[in-house]
Amino acid sequence: MSSPAAAVERTHAQGGPPTAVVGDAELPPGPRWPRLLQTALWATQPGLMSRYAARRFGDTFTLRPFGIGDVVVITSPETIREVFMGDRDVFHAGEANAVMEPIAGASSLLLLDGERHLRHRKMLTGPFHGEAVRSHREQVAAIAADEVRRWPLARAFPIRPRMQEITLEVILRAVIGVSDERRMARLRELLRRLTQVGLVEMWLLWAYPGLARRRRFRALTTLRIMPEINRLLYEEIAAHRLQRDERHDVLSLLIAARDENGEGLSDEELRDHLITLLIAGHETTTTALAWCFERLLRHPQALARLRAELAAQDGESYLDAVVNETLRVRPVVDAVWRKLAEPAMVQGRLLPAGAVVMPSIILVQESSDSYEDPSSFRPERFLEEGAPPYTFIPFCGGPRRCIGASFATMEMKAVLGTVLRAVELRAPTQRPERAKVHHITLVPSRGGRVIVERRRPAAAT
Ligand code: HEM
Repeated sequence: MSSPAAAVERTHAQGGPPTAVVGDAELPPGPRWPRLLQTALWATQPGLMSRYAARRFGDTFTLRPFGIGDVVVITSPETIREVFMGDRDVFHAGEANAVMEPIAGASSLLLLDGERHLRHRKMLTGPFHGEAVRSHREQVAAIAADEVRRWPLARAFPIRPRMQEITLEVILRAVIGVSDERRMARLRELLRRLTQVGLVEMWLLWAYPGLARRRRFRALTTLRIMPEINRLLYEEIAAHRLQRDERHDVLSLLIAARDENGEGLSDEELRDHLITLLIAGHETTTTALAWCFERLLRHPQALARLRAELAAQDGESYLDAVVNETLRVRPVVDAVWRKLAEPAMVQGRLLPAGAVVMPSIILVQESSDSYEDPSSFRPERFLEEGAPPYTFIPFCGGPRRCIGASFATMEMKAVLGTVLRAVELRAPTQRPERAKVHHITLVPSRGGRVIVERRRPAAAT
């Protein structure tokens, strides 16, 4: 670990801001509330505490929840840029995400840092680029059309679980393909249960791995179902290794991928990547889609304009704008984290090693410095002026930007288009649903309740 001065020089050499502080590392001020209160608020109302602290302490402040350490929240686009583009050997995303290890595994892309992250990321990005992503669109639309046919008429139901059925099917088919229907059905069922695992359980197993050996804790969902999920995934890997030339799913491409030394991924590494893609690739998209409906059904003009664009089959610029505006005004993930491997300069202040720096997606995207009337849902803003740099970061940015961002937006557009062509929907009430924490995402509090008013003629779908 280098000295504070070395950290200052490093930031300078990268073209960072002029050094304002050389000397002892310090944390910015923040609320002095008891840690227990901060932890409870952090876990249940992340936006609430950060909004209060930003008003009171300015655009950078420190929160102190239990178990995570000192968390320096940053909210200005310039500082967020500094952190996203900062030295990856200093700003460790993998270490900050370590709580996911009991499920995602130590080789998950989310958990890797440094050279290993770079090597694995290069091997994983191929299946998530342009043409590869577009090739899934028809299948996504078919899965969505099949799901929407089962929805009841004239009865309110939450749309989020319905979206989850679609996105789970989509990701299983895209990542694994169908090699064995029975294995697929079992995996589908177990993954549904895995998404119910709360952050507390993940955190407990990560902080106290010894719990896994205690009989009393064997009822934890992760311990009950992970061994079977792993067995099924290893079976898939073995089956794919035998017949990979005939297949075009992500797993086949990963098996074929080689690094610059000609080396491929081991079975253990493939397992960790598979479970990461399956979980990260469907929970987030489910929530984003639920918010799209929640917002659209409370904004009749936006809904009408989108319907008109879909009917005219003349491009999809408004569809793009709706997806972006939803992700801006209701981000799925409220923030990302970077743990400092050594002292580092951030916004002219030297922060100590071990501190967690947290670019706040929620706060930067709802800032009135960047957006006019930021809390209103107005997709047009993405048609008119677009988003200023580093103010629209639902997928993070820099070298850790979500590798599934294009896949997720393709999927959202295909599902929205298919559903809105097939049925007319309304919300049971115009009262907005508030955001509540589920797992690591912010979901609509009532699941995005909708009513199907009528089905549209098949010719229009
Ligand atoms: C609306 C949907 C989605 C949202 C909002 C979202 C959001 C994010 C964010 C904010 C990160 C950065 C995490 C960090 O910096 O620590 C991330 C990373 C990641 N996402 Fe997504 N994601 C979505 C969909 C997907 C999909 C569809 C996949 C794959 C099929 C995926 C796979 C990943 C992976 C593997 C990473 C780790 C990247 C790395 O560390 O290099 N995500 N995602």
